[in-house]
Amino acid sequence: MSVLIKNGRIITASEDYVADIFIEGEKIKSIGKNLQVQGEKEIDATGKLVFPGGIDPHVHLDMPFMGTFSSDNYETGTRAALYGGTTMVIDFILQKQGHSLHEALSEWQGRSNNNCVGDYSFHMAVTDFNDNTCKEISQMINEEGITSFKTFMAYKGALMIDDRQMVGLMEEVKKHGGLINVHATNGDMIDYLIAKHRAEGKLSPLYHYLSQPEVTEAEASERFADMANYTGCPGYIVHLTCEGALNAVRNATRRNQKVFVETCIQYLIIDASLYEKEDGAKWVMSPPLREKKDQETLWAGINQGLVQVVATDHCPFKWQQKLMGKDDFSKIPNGHPAIENRMELLFSEGVNKGRITLNKYIEVACTNPAKIFGMFPRKGTIGIDSDADIVIFDPEEKHKISAKTHHMNVDYSAYEGWELTGKVKTVLLRGKVAIENNHCIVDKGYGKFIKRNKVDSKI
Ligand code: URP
Ligand code: ZN
Ligand code: ZN
Repeated sequence: MSVLIKNGRIITASEDYVADIFIEGEKIKSIGKNLQVQGEKEIDATGKLVFPGGIDPHVHLDMPFMGTFSSDNYETGTRAALYGGTTMVIDFILQKQGHSLHEALSEWQGRSNNNCVGDYSFHMAVTDFNDNTCKEISQMINEEGITSFKTFMAYKGALMIDDRQMVGLMEEVKKHGGLINVHATNGDMIDYLIAKHRAEGKLSPLYHYLSQPEVTEAEASERFADMANYTGCPGYIVHLTCEGALNAVRNATRRNQKVFVETCIQYLIIDASLYEKEDGAKWVMSPPLREKKDQETLWAGINQGLVQVVATDHCPFKWQQKLMGKDDFSKIPNGHPAIENRMELLFSEGVNKGRITLNKYIEVACTNPAKIFGMFPRKGTIGIDSDADIVIFDPEEKHKISAKTHHMNVDYSAYEGWELTGKVKTVLLRGKVAIENNHCIVDKGYGKFIKRNKVDSKI
């Protein structure tokens, strides 16, 4: 199958020009003005933006967590992602303490294999680093194409590892060319504050926020950066939310250390005042939403090159699941839905409001995730021989977000009623039209597991 996209305004992380794109099979074959070729399918993109498919490197689909499962499975989650212009996601495998990484990989493959509509990969969360796990690291990298390892400095007793394990893991991962991702918050301090609030009968969602003050994130981020510096292992802080944590990364740059930083769309545009609402549980996530001053710091951090990625940490739970914590904030499953909204929200709130440029938008939503996680230039850009993962986007179209029209398997939207300018119109995934006229025309099973290369720590 060949496709000719004509006369679109092509945006990459560094370019902005009008041209045609010719696609043959899964790949981009040529790019140029007035290409003299015929496509079996032709799309007129005049007046539209044409950019690489979004990559969301932080999602949790069908994940067992806090006594339930996140409500989007691999089919509904990757389909919703495509509707929102995200053609690839990276999900997290969670090792069970006392069990191997390979057991966890098989369990996750059992839920994801042949079920994805869009492309996907996994980070491996190491929750129990010991002599046996140590031997599995090189196998994950060299045989499975899983080159990034997630660690938790919180969720003690379930996911958290201590610093002894962290340093050992870093040494092993560095040896084999991988990267460590981290949920950087001080778990012990948070557990103390949760217990204290519960003992005082302070049980509403607001106390979720008050149990994870900025210092818990700043302290852990600094400790993580120090351990990464000591071991020389490339590090990536996921879902960074606040000024204090970003300052820890800024400090690390003074010794010429590079720590990659991901923030998520929610931390840029919504704030902790939502926890005072009756339905505040909708926004219970970890780390929690922060203050307006943190949003400003994060937008600035993107422009300063300190924040390289805007993801979602998509981890949806239906309202009935959120009600597991109606009498106790510590039992509310943590996470919120955004996989479908990220690209349009970031365009509308970021580019349209003059906070970031169009090139920066593509850099943080598409190109940097591909570079950091070993998929560039196959993914994350529009170039000859890249996968034809392409979004055709109307920058003028106005629309409203609503749970009534979204495609995520969750019965509310965290952004209900938000009015956006800029809409995903057509999406191609590896040369196939996946979204057109507001319909998804690829089936589950089309999404491919993407084996990733070793990490480029020099982007
Ligand atoms: O609230 C969140 N973030 N839920 C998913 C698990 C995690 O910590 O990323
Ligand atoms: Zn986390
Ligand atoms: Zn997460």
